[in-house]
Amino acid sequence: MVKVSYEQKPFRREVMRTYGASVTPSPSELTAVGRRILAEHPGTTGSLGCAISEAVEDALSHEGYRYVLGSVLNQVLLHQSVIGMETKIALDKYGIKPDMVIGCAGGGSNLGGLISPFMGEKLRGEADYDIVAVEPASCPSLTRGRYAYDFCDTGKVCPLAKMYTLGSGFIPSANHAGGLRYHGMSPVLSELYDQGMMRAISVEQTSVFAAAELFARVEGILPAPESSHAIRAAIDEALRCKETGEEKTIVFGLTGTGYFDMVAYEKYNNGEMTDYIPTDEDLKPGFDSLPHIG
Ligand SMILES: Cc1ncc(COP(=O)(O)O)c(C=O)c1O
Repeated sequence: MVKVSYEQKPFRREVMRTYGASVTPSPSELTAVGRRILAEHPGTTGSLGCAISEAVEDALSHEGYRYVLGSVLNQVLLHQSVIGMETKIALDKYGIKPDMVIGCAGGGSNLGGLISPFMGEKLRGEADYDIVAVEPASCPSLTRGRYAYDFCDTGKVCPLAKMYTLGSGFIPSANHAGGLRYHGMSPVLSELYDQGMMRAISVEQTSVFAAAELFARVEGILPAPESSHAIRAAIDEALRCKETGEEKTIVFGLTGTGYFDMVAYEKYNNGEMTDYIPTDEDLKPGFDSLPHIG
């Protein structure tokens, strides 16, 4: 488990342990790649890219073990397309056509799944939708990344993928409480973004938690911080429409509950949460880590 999540999301960790898993914070001393990352980034609280490298090494060094990436790759988007298809069927049943489809974007799997039937219609020229990826300002792979071949993991043991990326060497700030801390973006979504078939925005975490709080009070549902990125964008668009008098149907993906994220909510409620937007200088080492192709 990514070290920062291991510390900030102790209840997710304990759920896994309750079901029998032994949970190790990554980067760890247990793998060669973990030790290498720790030597290069002493005291780092890790990232998804680091945890992937360690998980792959662990799987490769144990007979009968297999590793499957949980986001980014096509099979994960395909799996999550169930969400999009169910959404489309539900909307069609009531004759509703959304104007806008919004999803939070870490590696891109929930967004890719949610938008799949809508994007299909858009690509075939059957309908138009405003499709929006919402990412954290602290890890802005679409809005500030480069479209390049890059490693899917920090230890550079996984194959290269062409994607929007901040560079596999980019380690996001530990101050960001939610997930979505992945340096790259699904190659499918990257290509759609590059072709102008969808757009992306980035939001800061205190505004994300303000949206989460409003949503919880109005809807009675405590959203996951990741989902709350999409909620922020949906609220902002609804407020904009309120001002202009426009009528819009806005669909967003509510990907999870926030019950395991109460440490982050506590920080927000205590007024201790801060925002972090990397400078161009902060992003440079990540871009410098991009592989040189051909
Ligand atoms: C609740 C929740 N929603 C969304 C995401 C984002 O992942 P992806 O962009 O792959 O859908 C995560 C990732 O950890 C998550 O925990």
